Amino acid sequence: MTNRFAPGPVSESLYHRALKVMPGGTTRMTVDRIPTPLYMSKGEGAYAYDVDGRRFLDLVGDYTVLLHGHNFAPVVDAVRDQISVGSCYANPTELEVELAELLCERIPAIEKVRFVTTGTEAVMFAIKAARAFTGRTRVLKFEGCYHGGYDWAEASENNAPENWGEGRPTVRAYAAGTPEYVLDDIVVGKLNDAELLRDIFAEQGDQVACILLDPMPSRAGLFGVSPEFVEAIHVMREKYSCVLICDEVLSLRVAYHGSSSFFGLSPDLITVGKTIGGGLPIGAIGGSSELMSVFSSENGSPEVPQGGTFSANPISLCAGIAAVRHATPEAYANLSRLNQRLQAGLSEAFKRTGARFSVTGLGSLFRIHPKDIAPKDYRSFHQSPEERNRMRELSNFLFGSGIWISPLTSACLSTPMGNHEISQIVEAVSEFCQLEAK
Ligand SMILES: Cc1ncc(COP(=O)(O)O)c(C=O)c1O
Repeated sequence: MTNRFAPGPVSESLYHRALKVMPGGTTRMTVDRIPTPLYMSKGEGAYAYDVDGRRFLDLVGDYTVLLHGHNFAPVVDAVRDQISVGSCYANPTELEVELAELLCERIPAIEKVRFVTTGTEAVMFAIKAARAFTGRTRVLKFEGCYHGGYDWAEASENNAPENWGEGRPTVRAYAAGTPEYVLDDIVVGKLNDAELLRDIFAEQGDQVACILLDPMPSRAGLFGVSPEFVEAIHVMREKYSCVLICDEVLSLRVAYHGSSSFFGLSPDLITVGKTIGGGLPIGAIGGSSELMSVFSSENGSPEVPQGGTFSANPISLCAGIAAVRHATPEAYANLSRLNQRLQAGLSEAFKRTGARFSVTGLGSLFRIHPKDIAPKDYRSFHQSPEERNRMRELSNFLFGSGIWISPLTSACLSTPMGNHEISQIVEAVSEFCQLEAK
């Protein structure tokens, strides 16, 4: 099939300049390079423009950050007003109280909140809090799940068939140079495998500080945790008195009250980020007052010292307040309706054309899989080189139709989208499937 992805001349020349001053020419490994990244110039609602003046329906949304799309007027106004009176101070502002109140009202498991600047930091501090609280150090995480760049959180996130391991998933460093002692303090389970979870706890439950769980992990396949697994998680947490951390940095946007609440989980700590910053850098750790007290300096030095030059900076906070306030139950319901229409349209196109694709998703998130059957676990989600190639071809084709989607991860809808955009996506994907069938 013709490759319709063609970065324009301005992107090409920027990339050549960038290669001279940046390793690999970019600052994020997740930037698509085919072989040149697209350099962007502006965004407008559901659409983004590259430096060569081409317009795309943006289904990447900075990897799910932009719940309201680009240039959302309430965010733009809030940022403009705030920046004219100050971009950051060492002291707190009323804004941090306001965003903390919003999160406590909205997310059932959150009684207290601390702000940081990224999701990676939020996960790191949540793990530190769990360790301080339990006096243990081991982290139980799940194969294939992405939680940012903290050593303990990233292990085994890219496990593959050649290193699955016999029985229990292999504990593998993600970055070269990760110390062995880090790996010694990690145990890896399989999402939705309740039996394995019980086995792990029977063997080493008294050493586990925390279970790190994303209720609907995007990178592992965008499927939700099963009721049986949720039950097993709760039983193990109670029996072995460890801390349950739900990482909702990405999956918060699944539902108005967040993903753990949607799936019936009652975490001790929650990490959030992305959408709660309205397009500016943010992360937060929230949870029960008892657990969050490890960060408090009310009675002297905190058990877990937590700070950061840009933590709770007023620009991210005011943008976040505007975005979160406009993320109403009605907005969530509308996004969910659009997503259902989209997934029904895509499934119908796959069936009609006999294309070996499927789709999963919830709320405003969806993911197309180069498989007949939608995955229910990481191993059935895992893509062969041939399947990865088909995803790449699909995304290149969509690019040629003015739709920007990453072949590597989930896509997202945003509030400025409507039926028109859904039809545009369904039509372009159907066209690809028809061509592929020929
Ligand atoms: C589930 C999850 N946790 C943590 C992170 C890390 O967040 P950040 O990129 O803001 O550091 C991400 C980022 O995509 C994520 O999806």
